[in-house]
Amino acid sequence: MKIIAFTGAGISQESGLDTFRKGGLWDGRDVHEVANIQSWWRGDESRQVMLDFYNQRSRDCHAAQPNAAHLALAEAEANGHEVTIVTQNVDNLHERAGSRNVIHLHGELMKARPEEHVGGIIDWPGDLNLGDTDAHGTQLRPHIVWFGEGLPVFDYAYTKATATDVDVLLVIGTSLEVGPANLCAFDTKADSVYLIDPDPPSASLFGSTKAENIRATATEGVKQVLSLLSLV
Ligand code: APR
Repeated sequence: MKIIAFTGAGISQESGLDTFRKGGLWDGRDVHEVANIQSWWRGDESRQVMLDFYNQRSRDCHAAQPNAAHLALAEAEANGHEVTIVTQNVDNLHERAGSRNVIHLHGELMKARPEEHVGGIIDWPGDLNLGDTDAHGTQLRPHIVWFGEGLPVFDYAYTKATATDVDVLLVIGTSLEVGPANLCAFDTKADSVYLIDPDPPSASLFGSTKAENIRATATEGVKQVLSLLSLV
């Protein structure tokens, strides 16, 4: 079977990584101070605030382990099914679980790029600080898509996610509040859609004839659905 898993912060919550809304990272924090391109160009003081924020998230990611939901998706792939992960997450837990087809819509914590353009992406697993530059002496920044920026891989991800031969779309741990990423889910051509989330967006968003809410955590719900579909 051909599966698309559209994942958000909720799939990594049971690995100890915060979600954004409903009591997550954005609550009590000025999201535009730490995750907006204008903030980066405001000057070194703003840059350092942003670098500190992402350095902490990078350390948290290193300390986290893939959970049963990440592992079940990798198991379905290992069983011979075509599983593509289209994720809004910047952690590397899908890869560390064994998934090989992972598309990061919003960038990756373990990578960096020159502050002046999207190219030149390099692995950067440790802290990133002012003075860390590329080979040309350009200041590096986290390879994260900030508010006010385009999504470099959106067209590729959207084409994969909305292909006409997709059998099942799994929407796991996302509020679906952020576009254009959410179009990868809303514009699905899959025959069936499962929304796995203790407090899910409404199945009616997909035309509830083919969408079903699985009110469960990711570690419970992903295994439940993949077993139901005989993929694990
Ligand atoms: N299992 C499954 N889902 C969970 C769990 C869990 N254990 N815990 C929380 N959730 C659900 C919440 O109910 C919520 O619906 O995960 C969802 C997380 O939603 P958000 O915090 O909005 O995260 P996400 O949808 O990934 O945000 C999208 O917003 O700020 C940007 O770039 C950021 O990629 C992020 C984007």
